[in-house]
Amino acid sequence: MKRVLLIIGGGIAAYKAPDLVRQLRAQGLAVRCLLTKAAEQFVSPLSLASVSGDKVYENLFDLTDEAEMGHIQLSRDAELILVAPATADLMAKAAQGIANDLASTTLLATDKPVMLAPAMNVRMWKHAATQRNLAQLKTDGLHFVGPEEGDMACGEFGLGRMSEPSEIAARAAALLGGADAPLLGGAHAPLLRGAQAPLLKGKKVLITAGPTHEPIDPVRYIANRSSGKQGYAIAGALAAMGAEVHLVSGPTALADVAGVKMHRLETADEMYAACHALLPVDIGVMTAAVADWRPDVCADQKLKKTETGLPDLALRENRDILASLGASDKKPELLIGFAAETHNVEAFARDKLARKNCDWIIANNVALDSGIEGGVMGGDENAATLVSQNNVEAFGQMSKTETAQKLAEHIAGYFNSRKTS
Ligand code: CTP
Repeated sequence: MKRVLLIIGGGIAAYKAPDLVRQLRAQGLAVRCLLTKAAEQFVSPLSLASVSGDKVYENLFDLTDEAEMGHIQLSRDAELILVAPATADLMAKAAQGIANDLASTTLLATDKPVMLAPAMNVRMWKHAATQRNLAQLKTDGLHFVGPEEGDMACGEFGLGRMSEPSEIAARAAALLGGADAPLLGGAHAPLLRGAQAPLLKGKKVLITAGPTHEPIDPVRYIANRSSGKQGYAIAGALAAMGAEVHLVSGPTALADVAGVKMHRLETADEMYAACHALLPVDIGVMTAAVADWRPDVCADQKLKKTETGLPDLALRENRDILASLGASDKKPELLIGFAAETHNVEAFARDKLARKNCDWIIANNVALDSGIEGGVMGGDENAATLVSQNNVEAFGQMSKTETAQKLAEHIAGYFNSRKTS
């Protein structure tokens, strides 16, 4: 059984720790708890010992513990280190490499994946120092879940609430490749090994993003409202996990993604050619809103309205890039398509899965009444559902960055569960 070492920081959200332990166990994970000194004010070691069914660790200098189980051994015995709540103080220590108690020493001594669920007052979260530490920890390859926006214990409202225990447990299980057994390779999926960052080291990824522009003449084109945000966020999340990421992008207003090989182009035909030229790849993530049609002919010169009158725009269908990869003898091991649906989300996604021969479909609800401010297309939020042959998992409404992180964790979980299966 895979084991999570749960480090509980000293914040009010620590009272949720027993529930989190229950939720982790419900995911089929063993849990061992480690409390900081401040956390003891919020949750009792005794209740954690009883829900986890294991000894609770508290003090670096407790000689009995050192004799029984050193801090190195604590991390060695776990497949994932989860910090929840991750306080501003713990984040600062981890970002700086400070090791002056059992929690921070364990974090510095581990080479296992680390996931943090931050919880703090909104101003502490937004403070430049915390944001600097967050950026550093992400660069170091640590994973994050939350924080969420909501009412806080201090009476304020804002970003800083710890994610719900069920969400944290699901994310931890997904990272370990065991959240939903059939999708990710079996309940006895093997353990993650190695350092934090390179979960996807050695994997080559092809991502398409943005709209395509289909020229009518040198100054006019057919396009759509895709911003490219979701694809760019996925590229960043997978690159942070050590993958070699190629982002094939239609025209967008977005900056290049650090650590990602950019291939910028305009038309669906160019995108098709660029994707096939990059094969073979291990993972294909096709987020682009490829134009379905292009003008049959593109005029060499600007069409003058006085001369042409109302142009007769004959359209031609563009080739389906995703379907062509699904049919290729170089089909990526994990091929992921996107779908924009307004209704019957799951049924249409399943149909697309079969028609395009892909492994997962990420279905977005783009209905006007989806409740997402500004809409999914072009907006910053998404409400995605991952549909595979045997499984459906709704990600819930969240930012495109979080959706990307969650998808990246599922991808890492998929490959980790296949390593030794
Ligand atoms: N796709 C592609 N090449 C195309 C068209 C689509 O690679 N020429 C990919 C998209 O990147 C996405 C998926 O196929 O991964 C979307 O399929 P599509 O059939 O276009 O779905 P919808 O946009 O949802 O359209 P429909 O409602 O017509 O099914």
